[in-house]
Amino acid sequence: MSALFETTRIKGMELKNRFVRSATHEGMSDERGFPTEALSKLYERLARGGTGLIITGYAFVSRDGICHNYRMQGMDDDAFIPKYRELVDRVHENGARIAMQIAHCGRQTTREATGSQPMGPSRVKEKSLFVTPRAMTEEDIERVIEAFAQAARRVRESGFDAVQIHGAHGYLVSQFLCPHSNRRKDAWGGSTENRMRFVREIYSRCRKEVGDDYPILIKMNTQDNMKKGLKLAEGVRMAQMMAETGFDGLEVSCGIFEDGFTSVRGELPIELFLKEWPMYRKMNPLSKFVMKRFGDKIVKPVPLTEAYNREAAREIKAKVEVPVFLVGGVSQPSVMEEIIEKGEADYISLCRPLIADSKFPERIRQGSREPSICIYCNYCGAYMVNEPLRCYRGKELTRKNA
Ligand SMILES: Cc1cc2nc3c(=O)[nH]c(=O)nc-3n(C[C@H](O)[C@H](O)[C@H](O)COP(=O)(O)O)c2cc1C
Repeated sequence: MSALFETTRIKGMELKNRFVRSATHEGMSDERGFPTEALSKLYERLARGGTGLIITGYAFVSRDGICHNYRMQGMDDDAFIPKYRELVDRVHENGARIAMQIAHCGRQTTREATGSQPMGPSRVKEKSLFVTPRAMTEEDIERVIEAFAQAARRVRESGFDAVQIHGAHGYLVSQFLCPHSNRRKDAWGGSTENRMRFVREIYSRCRKEVGDDYPILIKMNTQDNMKKGLKLAEGVRMAQMMAETGFDGLEVSCGIFEDGFTSVRGELPIELFLKEWPMYRKMNPLSKFVMKRFGDKIVKPVPLTEAYNREAAREIKAKVEVPVFLVGGVSQPSVMEEIIEKGEADYISLCRPLIADSKFPERIRQGSREPSICIYCNYCGAYMVNEPLRCYRGKELTRKNA
């Protein structure tokens, strides 16, 4: 049997295989953030398609940390618990486990979304959304840590099998970790130890709420593409520190919005972003023209390669005992197998391949060695500001053929 289909355990959570649906914003909540029927159906499809562990799209821990994308999930109130319980039951009935990813967007959102000036560790302008945040006060920091802890408690009370802290991709936790966005001179900034303080506090407060037996996972960056950003050596060190802190699983990712979207890579459909994203729609005609003509040179996208976080995962795996999840451009079943067999990671996390085909893991179980059908056009990402998640691959092909 392929190593991809071994049964494993993370604390009390038993997983039937090593396929994880990496957190993917769905835009399938109602206006307040409650899950809808469409969201439950999507998770049922993923469960039936063979994914062992589904990680939900990011859910806000407080309203001031909500994203600018369409209809984010919420977890900032006990009123959510009964609704999520129904959703979790439906996933379990279909044979998968489910974790919720909880997040605060910090400076990587808009005033229109949050209703107030976004905040971050420091007053450093976010250049892809054109947002200058206010620097968080001690009270803000304490309030957000508590919001994470209460959200984690609700996740457990809703029956989810685990909680994942979103510590990657330039959202608030990642903003504290990254030297580009965290310029603080107090105990929350400066040295690696200090920049880690926020996530460590979040961990220990969540742990108090959920108990020792409950899996607390984290998705984290090991690097980004910014001059003053996070570099691999420090990212690996941070991963070790996260393991020492007590996290039960590390999902290894990279990139932030303003570094050219290196978290996702692939095509950069600039015209579509200019059309769909409200902050780009407001751009003056000259800037729009320049972006259309020279966007590729300005944004400098990093090319997509198979399993582009593999090297980082391998380095981390050699240094930690806790399970490592590898995400990013993993498309070839033979590569997935090799990664698991060589012990470079414990789990294969997939986002876009499962948007394109929820049955991908089941096809592999049945013996297929075909790569994912995803063409990494990233239309799913461009449209997520205004519409629920879906694969637009067909649409792109239609356009090309037109
Ligand atoms: C439409 C879309 C939504 C995403 N939403 C989230 C999210 O809510 N939380 C998160 O951690 N990452 C999110 N990501 C990033 C993915 O989880 C993943 O890290 C990235 O796409 C690389 O994996 P892939 O090559 O398998 O797609 C999203 C990516 C896409 C394309």
